[in-house]
Amino acid sequence: MSRLDAFIKRVTAQRECLNEIARRLHGRSGPILELGLGNGRTYDHLRELFPGQPIFVFDREIAAHPACVPPAEFTVLGDFRDTLATALTRIGRRAILAHGDFGSGDPERTAALARFMGPALDPLIEPGGYVVSDQPMTVARWRAIAPPPTVEPGRYFIWQVGDGGA
Ligand SMILES: C[S@@+](CC[C@H](N)C(=O)[O-])C[C@H]1O[C@@H](n2cnc3c(N)ncnc32)[C@H](O)[C@@H]1O
Repeated sequence: MSRLDAFIKRVTAQRECLNEIARRLHGRSGPILELGLGNGRTYDHLRELFPGQPIFVFDREIAAHPACVPPAEFTVLGDFRDTLATALTRIGRRAILAHGDFGSGDPERTAALARFMGPALDPLIEPGGYVVSDQPMTVARWRAIAPPPTVEPGRYFIWQVGDGGA
């Protein structure tokens, strides 16, 4: 598969999964977490899907399109391994959705980061909330949700967070 085809499949999967979760969260309010701002494409889509909801953005740096730079009060700069531990204080209450798009070209480093991210995100999401990610993660109280049928298996992942967390 060409890198162009892979990119199209990836961004299409992101859009389909985020749209699906916006449908499921319709009428529910609360913070949203964007883990990995990058160019800001998915952040911009989240802004459209969840108007008026606070979207807290985590990344080690700001390298987004100028139109997609989040306000300073919703920006948490630094490595996830440093910023997530105190994130609940920053966001004020548990989130209804976390979107993690943090894969890189290094599969081993990405897998190690995903092993860290699941348990680190878990206490930040309220029961019934969702986690959507480009990486597989394993947390006991998360229930895997099948992505929309247009998303090819293993391309993107959705979980609903159950009871029993922090
Ligand atoms: C693939 S990009 C995200 C693309 C974004 N979703 C978009 O639509 O433009 C991944 C981002 O995750 C960030 N990232 C990866 N590992 C990180 C870490 N350990 N701590 C903080 N940020 C990290 C990178 O700096 C990069 O901006």
